[in-house]
Amino acid sequence: MRQMWPDLSARSTEPEWMDIEPIGMLDFAECLADLETVNRLTRAAAPTMAFLDKATAGWPSGAELRVADLGYGQGAMLRRIHGWAEARGLRPRLTGVDLNPQCRALAKVRTPEGMAIDWHEGDLFDWEPAEPPHFIISALFTHHLPDADVARLLRWQDASASHGWFVNDLHRHWLAWAGFRALAGAAGWHRFVQHDGALSVRRAFVKREWETLLQGAGIGDAEIRWHVPFRLCVGRLKAAPAPV
Ligand SMILES: C[S@@+](CC[C@H](N)C(=O)[O-])C[C@H]1O[C@@H](n2cnc3c(N)ncnc32)[C@H](O)[C@@H]1O
Repeated sequence: MRQMWPDLSARSTEPEWMDIEPIGMLDFAECLADLETVNRLTRAAAPTMAFLDKATAGWPSGAELRVADLGYGQGAMLRRIHGWAEARGLRPRLTGVDLNPQCRALAKVRTPEGMAIDWHEGDLFDWEPAEPPHFIISALFTHHLPDADVARLLRWQDASASHGWFVNDLHRHWLAWAGFRALAGAAGWHRFVQHDGALSVRRAFVKREWETLLQGAGIGDAEIRWHVPFRLCVGRLKAAPAPV
């Protein structure tokens, strides 16, 4: 008999279609557009924006803000940060890192002229920033990695970001899995979004796993926080002076 409920006792190692299935450009554009709709409906950017808001409180007008976004997809988060930073009087210098060349092409097309964002193509573990970012962020990214790479990522971003970092990912929970499947089926979203969205929940984390990963990476003062609906985010703010 076909199993109704997946085993959520441990992270799934099943690969997401997005990571292994070849897909044409127009088809992929539809996939990422639907992913952006999911993100908008679930207010997915809110925890990251709240982190940046808090992290830059008191920064003087005109200060440079360097942010790197890992696994940017089609780049909506950095475009949003760009608008927010300018409204705050900061000078955004933003870099995205994504290994999929189709993401870079789509991010460039979706970015208005005059909004300078460096869309880097490549594996994040090969990326060497020219200048240390103040903040390294990611969304729906860490669950793509096996545990060993998540631990490596935590160590790397903690050493590389001068002011802090924020991981915005999912909580592995049956309600998130069932709820997403029901919503995605009803909305008729792209087949990759339907498949990978539900699988992303199964590949995602629970709090005690983040605690173990942070401990393994030697990071003692990160905050793990749950956000509606079923985002489990991890962030660390360093005690570093505001840039002038
Ligand atoms: C589910 S998408 C998330 C897109 C976007 N951040 C969002 O919140 O919608 C995950 C992204 O991570 C990228 N990715 C996966 N492994 C990567 C790696 N090792 N280095 C850089 N990017 C990677 C994929 O190409 C994909 O664009």
